[in-house]
Amino acid sequence: MLRPVIRPRRLRQSPAMRAQTRELRVHPSELVLPVFVREGLNAPQEITSLPGIQQHTLDSLRGVVAEAAEAGVGGIMLFGVPEERDAIGSGATDPEGILNQAISAVAAEAGGALTVQADLCLDEFTDHGHCGVVDERGRVDNDATLQRYAEMAVVQAEAGAEIIGMSGMMDGQIAVAREALDAAGHEDAVLLAYSAKYASAFYGPFREAVDSQLQGDRRTYQMDPANRREGLREALLDVEEGADIVMVKPAMSYLDVLADVSAESIVPVWAYQVSGEYAMIVAAAQHGWIDRAGAVAESIVSIRRAGADAVLTYFAVEYARALRA
Ligand code: PBG
Repeated sequence: MLRPVIRPRRLRQSPAMRAQTRELRVHPSELVLPVFVREGLNAPQEITSLPGIQQHTLDSLRGVVAEAAEAGVGGIMLFGVPEERDAIGSGATDPEGILNQAISAVAAEAGGALTVQADLCLDEFTDHGHCGVVDERGRVDNDATLQRYAEMAVVQAEAGAEIIGMSGMMDGQIAVAREALDAAGHEDAVLLAYSAKYASAFYGPFREAVDSQLQGDRRTYQMDPANRREGLREALLDVEEGADIVMVKPAMSYLDVLADVSAESIVPVWAYQVSGEYAMIVAAAQHGWIDRAGAVAESIVSIRRAGADAVLTYFAVEYARALRA
């Protein structure tokens, strides 16, 4: 009879033994909850494509902050859904715009219990749905967009954003935002660079969540899903430009990119478990095809294991509670 000398199963024999030899533990403070705030709503509204997730009013937002803080979640990432849109996304830089009002509301409610984070991108605010301004030939104009991002960064910091999530994938956006923030006296505002952001089908449900006006796609600025090396290049470039944190997005289909970036980065690395990743788990669980709690835990632990120090996820509150139970 074959008698193995080396027996890895030894460390799996009991819950206590497994707990003692587990390589990684997720902490609630490593989770960030993305939240949608919609202008002109009277009551929170369910997002069909993201069961369990709502578009919030400025008022219902306060309850979300309290709930997230209570669960120990580390931060809230805000997205605004304006009533009016135009070619340059004016609502993004209006201090009274929905996103900037939401930032102030969260900052007031959070009282330091969690970090106040805001998405910096024009897509929710433009009538064409692109992340930047469009030139007369219909192309997204990189450098003209940078001017808008610089303004937007300052307005968000003024409203109380502590972490600014640069998600537009324009070249040079980190350097430009850093310079504008510093010039305006906001040298403490943290820049989270969505460095390796892929043109992904997994953003599908998000488009409903923000009532996206986009026709076509974002492939001239978001990355090609086939490109691994380029993900590292984008992250290193952002670190050079002054990013405080770099991010890979989506998460689960890009764990190789995450591992690469994590191996090379000298700043924290985050990942975004996006709307489609959430929706797939929820939908399969609703059918009884997978166990929801198990899939949530496994997906997030996998993202941490691949190298993410923190994870943006719509499961943030649910999973934070499960971790504490
Ligand atoms: C851009 C932005 C998007 C997401 C986060 N920031 C949409 C896009 O790039 O098309 C997607 C997040 C998700 O799918 O959960 N403002």
